[in-house]
Amino acid sequence: MGKILVTGATGNVGSHVASQLARAGLEVRAFARKPEKVQAGVEVVQGDLTVPETLEPALKDVESVFLLWPGMSTGNAGEVVSAIARHARRVVYLSAYVPGSEDAATHYGDIEHFIRTSGLGWTFLRPGGFSANTLGWAEQIKRDGVVRWPYGQASRALIHEKDIAAVAVHALTSAGHNGASYDLTGPAELTQAEQVRAIGEAIGREVRWEEQPVEEARERLLAAWGEPEFVQSALKAWESFVTHPEKATDTVERLLGRPALSFRQWAEDHAADFR
Ligand SMILES: NC(=O)c1ccc[n+]([C@@H]2O[C@H](COP(=O)([O-])OP(=O)(O)OC[C@H]3O[C@@H](n4cnc5c(N)ncnc54)[C@H](OP(=O)(O)O)[C@@H]3O)[C@@H](O)[C@H]2O)c1
Repeated sequence: MGKILVTGATGNVGSHVASQLARAGLEVRAFARKPEKVQAGVEVVQGDLTVPETLEPALKDVESVFLLWPGMSTGNAGEVVSAIARHARRVVYLSAYVPGSEDAATHYGDIEHFIRTSGLGWTFLRPGGFSANTLGWAEQIKRDGVVRWPYGQASRALIHEKDIAAVAVHALTSAGHNGASYDLTGPAELTQAEQVRAIGEAIGREVRWEEQPVEEARERLLAAWGEPEFVQSALKAWESFVTHPEKATDTVERLLGRPALSFRQWAEDHAADFR
């Protein structure tokens, strides 16, 4: 099997893609802005996806690419996909399942379109919410043992980054995934209040949920994130997950032949981040 280029190799998912491929004895090359952040033992080429010409040297002799697109806009992703298509044969793209957005224009849809029309063989991974999103509560948990946040009854089937990576590795290294789109979730739906309780159990101390009024949350998120549209879409999404929980899929189990990792497992793996 030829060389596999991993983008986002210093992030939640890509770091596991790189390490799982390396452990399987495959030829891996990471593409990173800061090579020193990539785990030891993996070949790295330095570059930036927003500067597509820096990708060309990284693509030399590459057969397949794990593609993560940073940020929330399409930007120059079309050029990046064209560069990949000039060198490689296959791409596994970390897209997203965005409920209710089937008809809306998103950068995920744009990038999927570039890939579909590029001539590359492709597989789209469409995860719902990442368990790692709850790391946003870490400071409050460490400081107060309380998560003050809106929509405690918003329910999602959060997915462990290791499972997304394992599916990516499976799609990169076995046949039969060309033209497939995989909706990926964790094994079970949990409300945000239940997620907080599970984190408390994993770190061995009680962590309480405290419902935050939506307008107070908006102020705080605006101060933290800066972008009113992004804050509004996050609040709308949490509100919708109260009445329309994100449903668990069995895709991880179907593809990997073992159950998806639970949120509890994720919290245990990340206990040090919350202590
Ligand atoms: N969070 C969710 O619930 C969710 C759900 C569905 C889909 N997604 C998608 O999943 C992806 C995020 O995955 P993740 O959590 O594994 O990522 P992450 O931990 O946020 O890490 C982002 C990675 O991208 C790299 N990166 C950022 N800007 C770059 C640039 N200009 N050029 C090259 N590399 C760059 C970062 O490298 P540095 O070390 O240089 O920063 C890092 O390796 C996004 O595309 C997101 O839209 C997320």
